[in-house]
Amino acid sequence: MTETLYPAATGRAGSLDRAAYESQWQAAATDPDGYWRDQATCVDWMTPFTTVKDTSFDEADFRIRWFADGALNVSANCLDRHLATRGDQPAIVWEGDEPGETRTLTYRELHRETCRFANVLKGLGVRKGDRVTLYLPMIAEAAAAMLACTRIGAIHSIVFGGFSPDSLANRIQDCDSSVVICADEGCRGGKRIPLKRNVDKALEHCPGVRHVLVICRTGGDVPITPGRDVWLHDALEDVSDDCPPEPMKAEDPLFILYTSGSTGKPKGVLHTTGGYLVWVTKTFRDVFDYRDGELFWCTADIGWVTGHSYVVYGPLANGATTVMFDGVPSYPDHGRLWETIDRLGVNILYTAPTAIRALMREGDGWVTKSSRASLRVLGTVGEPINPEAWGWYHRVVGDGRCPIVDTWWQTETGGILISPLPYATDLKPGSATKPLPGVRTELVDAEGAVLEGATEGNLVLTDSWPGQMRTVWNDHERFFQTYFTTYPGKYFTGDGCRRDADGYYWITGRVDDVINVSGHRMGTAEVESALVAHSTVAEAAVVGMPHEVKGQGIYAFVTLNAGEEPSDELRATLRQWVRNEIGPIASPDALQFAPGLPKTRSGKIMRRILRKIAENDLTNLGDTSTLADPGVVDTLVAERVRTG
Ligand code: WTA
Repeated sequence: MTETLYPAATGRAGSLDRAAYESQWQAAATDPDGYWRDQATCVDWMTPFTTVKDTSFDEADFRIRWFADGALNVSANCLDRHLATRGDQPAIVWEGDEPGETRTLTYRELHRETCRFANVLKGLGVRKGDRVTLYLPMIAEAAAAMLACTRIGAIHSIVFGGFSPDSLANRIQDCDSSVVICADEGCRGGKRIPLKRNVDKALEHCPGVRHVLVICRTGGDVPITPGRDVWLHDALEDVSDDCPPEPMKAEDPLFILYTSGSTGKPKGVLHTTGGYLVWVTKTFRDVFDYRDGELFWCTADIGWVTGHSYVVYGPLANGATTVMFDGVPSYPDHGRLWETIDRLGVNILYTAPTAIRALMREGDGWVTKSSRASLRVLGTVGEPINPEAWGWYHRVVGDGRCPIVDTWWQTETGGILISPLPYATDLKPGSATKPLPGVRTELVDAEGAVLEGATEGNLVLTDSWPGQMRTVWNDHERFFQTYFTTYPGKYFTGDGCRRDADGYYWITGRVDDVINVSGHRMGTAEVESALVAHSTVAEAAVVGMPHEVKGQGIYAFVTLNAGEEPSDELRATLRQWVRNEIGPIASPDALQFAPGLPKTRSGKIMRRILRKIAENDLTNLGDTSTLADPGVVDTLVAERVRTG
């Protein structure tokens, strides 16, 4: 296969050019401690660290610690340190659901709002180390709430506003939050989202929550429980502007973020203060080549890691101006992103392949009627981008003049690990190109043998980087088991990957039971357990299937209890059921009633076969002779649900 090569941008790099990139790699290889010590100067330390890297992935002395004896505060790095030089520069440009509904907060204003918010939290009894759950729309107060937690050393756990009351309750219980921060309602695509009502439902199962802090977003009519619920605007009335930042040790917890894995309930990924902040600060500056005064727009929601790292912490730590978008790309029409880019003067756009594909389908006209002259760098994240979508993004959105950074990373990695740098890397559409300096990758086969040169295998990291997650909240054993036992001594990403003759990495997608729907991670086990919780369902198996816009869709095979009859109505009921149990993103795209599932004689469901059926790859079902009842496969094939 021959790929078109797009040469790196020329001109003066804001961050790294080719030579600087090479010399960083050199430094990381010859003197790792010196290299990381240098990189860590991108943040301000209250107590300088003396130890740099102290990590081992081996079971006997497993540990991940970075800059451990240093102390710092995240909100001071994101706010206070910019006040003298850029206090009046916008920190956040908020764009509401309706075009032109905007609000700008300067660094000074955001600092004041954060300090006051932090004092409200203190008044509600929140102390260092306490967990606070956030269930919020993309409003500026959400960033202030995050920063307020970091200011006093509270650990935030953000739950995406699209998750159901049940999912919210599970996450509140798992980390034992004492306070929940929500809005009365959210607005997305012209619709209202009943956030406060969802919190009320969730709290029926969360006796440990003492207070709910409610932010007025829409002014909608919501129930208030006296004694428990507090309006933010009321609480703000009698607090002071002064809240000194709490000195935190580098390894003190910063936040928990729940993410789906191949088994069981979502895991509470824990990130700590020093390493995470260094990593997002550095990668934001390097990967997007951010320059002072530019406007950066990452369209992710703060409910996902991309929103944490590249809407809030990375940009603010760099003194950048970040856009917070509370709407959707399709509202009020498919020109929304492009019209907004022109109106606000956005210089860097960071979005997901699924959004690009969805907008590409609507035709070039929506894009070309805008100028997009302000754009300089484009980015993507969340799933592999197909070369066709890459080409459209480059040619139509970027008018052929903006480098695209295809950034590979995970909730677990805290920030970007594999990506081009605009002024240092020649681009190949569909490839995340190469690991960032100091990031140690390998491809291994199923047995763990290291594969050299041009090859395909499973992607592992052989050494730590500062932004790495430190543990699964409350379950360190699960952390070790999940990531470090498949290939002992190495961190297993769960992703498959090809490496070409030029050393470029091409992520091929998950090799475990995680599916990536519109860039959102979904555990098949979670959807299955939601389905079997319905009274009509005996058994369910869920796999991914190719989906033109979402990347992957959810295909569910469902066996009903004896006496239950399959019907279109029941199919609709079950899809709605999953929406209610987990959230709209988990709703199956295809649902097939299956009289039986293909199982081995020991009763294990043969997912490999179900995947092939879902993919409509019926010529190559592989060996079915080990099945307890090979006949079930024929029935499943005959009754396959037609997918787009
Ligand atoms: C996938 C999102 C290909 C991958 C930041 C990974 C990607 C999972 C890319 C993590 C990319 C993310 N190219 N695949 N540029 N970026 N992925 O935790 O499968 O929501 O393991 O983090 O998304 O998803 P998560």
